[in-house]
Amino acid sequence: MNQKKAQEVFSPGGLPESTYITRQAKMGFTYEERLNQALNMSGYLTSISGQSKIGKTVLCEKVVGLDHLIEVSGSDFLEKDDIWRKIGTKAGMPNNAEITNNACRSGSMKESYLLTKESVIEYFKEKELVLLLDDFHYADSAMQNHMAQQFKDAIRKGFKVIIASLPHRSDDAIRTNPDLQGRINIIDIEMWTKEELKEIPKAGFKELEVEISKKAIDKLAEESICSPHLMQLICLNICVLEKVDELEVNKIKDEILERSFKFSTLNLNYSQIADTIKQGKNSRGKSRKTFRTDKVKDLDLYELILESITIDPPQTKLILTELMSRINSLVKGEEKPTTKSLKEYLKNLQEVLTSKDRSYEVIEWKDDTLFILEPLFLFFLRWGAE
Ligand SMILES: Nc1ncnc2c1ncn2[C@@H]1O[C@H](COP(=O)(O)OP(=O)(O)O)[C@@H](O)[C@H]1O
Ligand SMILES: [Mg+2]
Repeated sequence: MNQKKAQEVFSPGGLPESTYITRQAKMGFTYEERLNQALNMSGYLTSISGQSKIGKTVLCEKVVGLDHLIEVSGSDFLEKDDIWRKIGTKAGMPNNAEITNNACRSGSMKESYLLTKESVIEYFKEKELVLLLDDFHYADSAMQNHMAQQFKDAIRKGFKVIIASLPHRSDDAIRTNPDLQGRINIIDIEMWTKEELKEIPKAGFKELEVEISKKAIDKLAEESICSPHLMQLICLNICVLEKVDELEVNKIKDEILERSFKFSTLNLNYSQIADTIKQGKNSRGKSRKTFRTDKVKDLDLYELILESITIDPPQTKLILTELMSRINSLVKGEEKPTTKSLKEYLKNLQEVLTSKDRSYEVIEWKDDTLFILEPLFLFFLRWGAE
């Protein structure tokens, strides 16, 4: 029997140990080396960007270490918040209380820690802490600007901060801030390649002393759609299904892969979002044009859009012509939708999604391209619908 449990090896949503993969960033340096370099530059702020669940948080946890990393989220900050009080409290500073400092030469001494900007900066320096302001894009833009202003001053005093956000979006408050120019270390995390993703099952199943075929690993990399999170989730579910912790399992059978994909969708909750997309924009009583397909019922363009992104191979972006040809391959009748109407539907669909909360940011229609922002959503569409 193996000593390690599957959940200690595969860690969807957490910091993996044996399945943590070190990736190459630019010019043969790893992301870990790059972040380490950035954190060693005093007076600089570090800005990390990358798609959701690509590994921004995990990278910081790995490099800084959980004991020294103080994590706060952009969504923790509301318009009127005193940011330093929040940060100090999160770092474990007592709130306005007097604490005893035994380390002082003159015996024990009472010290009063007021949660001011200065005391928070001092506390961070003394304890060698690094602030990770995660999901910065969740803070509203006034708050982002306020924080950029505050950090500009704090980093000069030796405060270390990493700001993580989605690419090319609201992190502009940092990257385009004129006062911060020349004071930012930029780390852009690129999409995972299939080869990099394959390292996760290779390392994990080796650790568990379970064999898995090359063919199965290829299939896993294909279905994980650039997402290390998804790869960790599927691998863990394979172990649960096959009872790797309880039985003497020597080899993962190729046949169980599809069952484990379906099984993994049970952890995902996207049916309401899929329904919203299928409903599309309110057509005010007018009936929509439908098209004949192989499905039980005819589909309108919203349903066809959703159906078309689930076709093989899974792809994180589809340009208009690709989308059109996928839809045409689904429509079996004589009459096909026009490009003009497809664009109209996509525009309306984007309006609907934008009007909802941020959990609906799973796909985005922009620059004549449909981006799949959330690989887990695509995976759910491919394997979750019965
Ligand atoms: N370098 C890595 N090696 C192995 N798995 C990773 C790696 N980076 C991320 N993961 C997996 O993806 C999950 C999501 O990563 P996370 O850092 O939370 O993403 P982000 O902060 O970019 O949204 C992690 O919990 C882990 O399971
Ligand atoms: Mg994160």
